[in-house]
Amino acid sequence: MSHTTHPEINAERLWQRHLDMAKIGATSGGGVHRLALTDEDIEAHLLLVKWAGVHDFSIDLDAIGNMFIRRAGSEPSLPPVASGSHTDTQPFGGRFDGITGVLAAFEALETIHEAGIETRHPLETIVWNNEEGSRFIPACMGSAVYAGVENLEDMLAREDKSGVTMGSCIDKLKNALPQAGTRELGAPIANFIETHIEQGIELETSGNTIGAVTGMQGYRRFTVEVTGEDAHSGTTPRSRRKDAFVTATDITHALRKVLWDDKDEIRYTIGCFEVLPGGISVVPGQVNFTIDLRYHDKDTLDELGDRIPEICKTHAGPCEINISEFIKQDPMNFPENMISGVEKAAARHDFKHQRIYSYAGHDARHAARLCPAGMIFIPCWKGISHNEAERAEPDDIAAAAQVIADMLIDMAV
Ligand code: HGY
Ligand code: MN
Ligand code: MN
Repeated sequence: MSHTTHPEINAERLWQRHLDMAKIGATSGGGVHRLALTDEDIEAHLLLVKWAGVHDFSIDLDAIGNMFIRRAGSEPSLPPVASGSHTDTQPFGGRFDGITGVLAAFEALETIHEAGIETRHPLETIVWNNEEGSRFIPACMGSAVYAGVENLEDMLAREDKSGVTMGSCIDKLKNALPQAGTRELGAPIANFIETHIEQGIELETSGNTIGAVTGMQGYRRFTVEVTGEDAHSGTTPRSRRKDAFVTATDITHALRKVLWDDKDEIRYTIGCFEVLPGGISVVPGQVNFTIDLRYHDKDTLDELGDRIPEICKTHAGPCEINISEFIKQDPMNFPENMISGVEKAAARHDFKHQRIYSYAGHDARHAARLCPAGMIFIPCWKGISHNEAERAEPDDIAAAAQVIADMLIDMAV
């Protein structure tokens, strides 16, 4: 196929949209604070819908707050060929994690529409709800419920730190989009392709622009509650203390001895660590923390993760331990046809490309349970992400959007 059947995306417009989106929830540190379905995240949804309204693309919402922007195909009964990612961010996230995948998908949709290319399948841009899992646990909630991996009712009942439920936030989104239609959870999708910044340094180091993602490592996440006893820090000798901080740090050190390998491939992170009641002269009676364990081999991830409860109990000291694993996802691989589809489109435009593995989690994992799915990575500066300093280059973003546009056409005509 010649380039005429693969119209050129509008790189200027795509970059400007990144700048427009970065204003929604902008932090003083140059990043973005746009937690799932907060007013800022709903504002980002509405801005996308405004852009979609120019071409009267239709909008659907499903019961877990995923949004589907649709361009009709000539055979409406066919499942959509889709691309997308997420608009929500970490508390002090960057201006590219997630949103680049949404904007690249939308740019591809709009480019194809403006070129008047008719596709048999409908084309869709999908905005998955709550990928980051920062405001509401777990991550990738929207795509997981859509794919039947998580239970809808359980997820609607999940609360953020101030007791607001996910269900009430979805109601707010629906009230903000009265014109939206209803999409059934798990409705068929023909193919799904997601663009994302790599969040690592492989592409930057190799000088390649496009990463054809081969698969994604697995992860296991736990909450650990250590309960001791608040006490006076001056009058209480060690012998009479039930110091939750001492126990929690004993546990985390013991875990580190097991979960740190010489090859530096095991990813062991204590991201949240809460010491209560938090008084200078109070022996802490409560410590709550999280464990994020990731690895690329299923058996090893199973074996290491299974040891965590035992290590916690062994180092409980005088405290009570309550540990629960709230999510477990195995390593997964994308199908060869999607990986080579990325390579073929990149080669067509002479974009330097390579195959690459994903050490981060993404919604495409769950889409892959419903249809042939794939991912495209682009470099990000020094691999920095989940950080306000996150940075990607306009040319790299444009290259990914071009690959998406080509693949949507090739899969949907
Ligand atoms: O945590 C992750 O892997 C994703 O970036 N939310
Ligand atoms: Mn992301
Ligand atoms: Mn992220």
